[in-house]
Formats: sequence, structure tokens, C-alpha cells
Amino acid sequence: MKLVLEVKELTKVYKQRRGENVLAVDQISFSVWKNEVVGLLGPNGAGKTTTIKSIAVLIKPTGGEIWIDGVNALKDQKRSLERIAAVLEGNRNIYWRLTPKENLEFFVGLQGHSVRRTRGYIDELIELFKLKEKQNTPARKLSRGMQQKLAIACALVKQTEILLLDEPTLGLDVEISYELRRILKEMAQRGERTILLSSHDMNVVQDICERVIIINHGRIVTDDRVENLLKLFRASAYRFKIEGRLAQEQELALKRRFPLLEVEATDHRTYIDADLEGSNEIYEVIEILKGGQARIESIDHKEPNLEEIFLQIVKGDKR
Ligand SMILES: Nc1ncnc2c1ncn2[C@@H]1O[C@H](COP(=O)(O)OP(=O)(O)OP(=O)(O)O)[C@@H](O)[C@H]1O
Ligand SMILES: [Mg+2]
Repeated sequence: MKLVLEVKELTKVYKQRRGENVLAVDQISFSVWKNEVVGLLGPNGAGKTTTIKSIAVLIKPTGGEIWIDGVNALKDQKRSLERIAAVLEGNRNIYWRLTPKENLEFFVGLQGHSVRRTRGYIDELIELFKLKEKQNTPARKLSRGMQQKLAIACALVKQTEILLLDEPTLGLDVEISYELRRILKEMAQRGERTILLSSHDMNVVQDICERVIIINHGRIVTDDRVENLLKLFRASAYRFKIEGRLAQEQELALKRRFPLLEVEATDHRTYIDADLEGSNEIYEVIEILKGGQARIESIDHKEPNLEEIFLQIVKGDKR
């Protein structure tokens, strides 16, 4: 497989005139191969936008290297920019007075492609992003969601090696967000684009990406296939179903022993969710429960989702 993006020990310190400098990205390294769709996931302030802006050479990193399709991005900006299209959070880089179609033609021209030869692809994108109805309306009159879709379509039409999307679904209503997710997922499944997208929404990442890089406080904490992460966590996530309520003593004992364990009580049942290593820990829970009146109805393996995995990793409970 072809390596199209290499980030090596990327570091960014924002120098402040007043107050302390901010270490936003701290020696991040990762690679992206051709046609991979990779999610950059992390809580607010983790360093996602800074990473994406650095790759798109919109800001100058403090240290490290970025290689795009064999081009040293920090040394040869022009050639690296020919290989990248980026849509940044909230920044809809489209021309307000131009219609969707004109915008798409403009970006094709900008990239030096022939509009005539790209006609088919432009029509395809208008279709895919459901912009046909509005293809003759100036962009400023489109809804925010449509503007966002158009911004992404304009980035796509440039047909660059890499597409960078910073929070592509942020602030969109549910319907448009799902539509966009569907489009990106389809592109990912067809395996015809290399995409690095950032999000703080794990559902978006779980839905679209095959691989996820989780960052927190400017550092990579996990870089793995989504499937592997789910598998790894599936093996250790348990749910105990208990008849009635737990005695307070037991609940305290459980939480003292397993600080991340969660207890949820309904009218007739209590559910205990815990991440347990091996059968010994399962027996420990059973022992603690035996101490009270609790009757265990069942112990099940829980289906984890990326959200829980993310929270556990970010809390530093599991690497
Ligand atoms: N221009 C700037 N000047 C100073 N500090 C900045 C600047 N831009 C970002 N930061 C800081 O750098 C850190 C990383 O910010 P960044 O925007 O990269 O995070 P993010 O992961 O994109 O967060 P969000 O989910 O909120 O978009 C944060 O602590 C932020 O406050
Ligand atoms: Mg951001």
C-alpha cells in the first residue's frame, strides 16, 4: 500500500503575548495509507484542529515533519498544497455569490483541471450531495447544512490525494449530519479517497472510519482499527443483572474495588456495568454481591461502543 501522509513528531506551541504558552500538539506521529479513512478523535482542546491545520500548512508547527505523498510539506508548500484539500471547522471556503455548480467549476479550474472533462464528476457530486434542486441558487442563500455539504463537495472536486475534514458534521441538524455521514461512508467503502477527519463525536467516527487515532492533551493515546478496539473491549465489558436493589454497602465495596464500575437501578432490577480482566475479577464481583441479599439474574458480555472505549481511554483507565 502507498503511504500518502506521514506526520513525524509534530509539535505545536502557541506562543502567547500574555500568559503561558500553550502546548497544543506534543510530538504526534502517525501515517495514513492510500484510500484509508482515518478518524482523529479527541475531546475539546485535544489538538485535532491544530493537527489538521498543520498538515494543511495553514499554521507553522513548532517542530516535526509532515510528508505528503513524498513531498516535505513544510519545505515545499506549493507542491504539498496541490495534494491536499481541507475543510476546516466552521470555515465554509466557498464563494457566496456563486451557485453550487459555479463553485464546483471554480474549484476544478483552480486545481488546473479542465471543467469540460470534469463535468461528469461535477454532476455526480451535485447528485450525491443532493444539491441539484439548488444548483442555480447563490451559495449565500443556502442553509448552513447545504453550505457545509457544498464546501465538502468543493474540496472533493479538486481530486487531491488527501482530503482533510475538521469536524465535518459539527452544528448540522441530525438529518443533514446523517446524510453527510452516509456520503462519506459510501466513499470510504468504495475505497477511492484518502480521508483524515476529526471529530469529537465517536458515533461519527465509528460510522465512517475504519481506523481511529485518539488524541488527548496533544498526544496520541491510541491508534488502531475501530474493529480491533471494539473487539478488545468486547472481551472485557460485563453487565450483571441483579434482582431488586443493591445494598449501599455493597455498592460502595464494588466501587472501591472497581472505581469505573457503574450501577444503574430501575424499579425491579439493578444493572452493574464493569470492565473486568479475566474470571478472577468476575468472581470478586460475585463475592461482593454475595455479601448482601442480591440475587444475580445474569452476567452478560456487553457490546461496547466507541463512545465508552473513548471515555475509558481518555480517562486513562486502559491503553
Ligand atoms: N490560536 C491559538 N492560540 C493559542 N492557543 C490556541 C490557539 N488555537 C488553539 N489553541 C489551544 O490549543 C489547544 C488545542 O486546540 P485545538 O483547537 O487544536 O483542539 P481541538 O481538538 O480541535 O478542540 P475542539 O474539539 O474544541 O475543536 C487548546 O488548548 C486550545 O485552547
Ligand atoms: Mg477543533
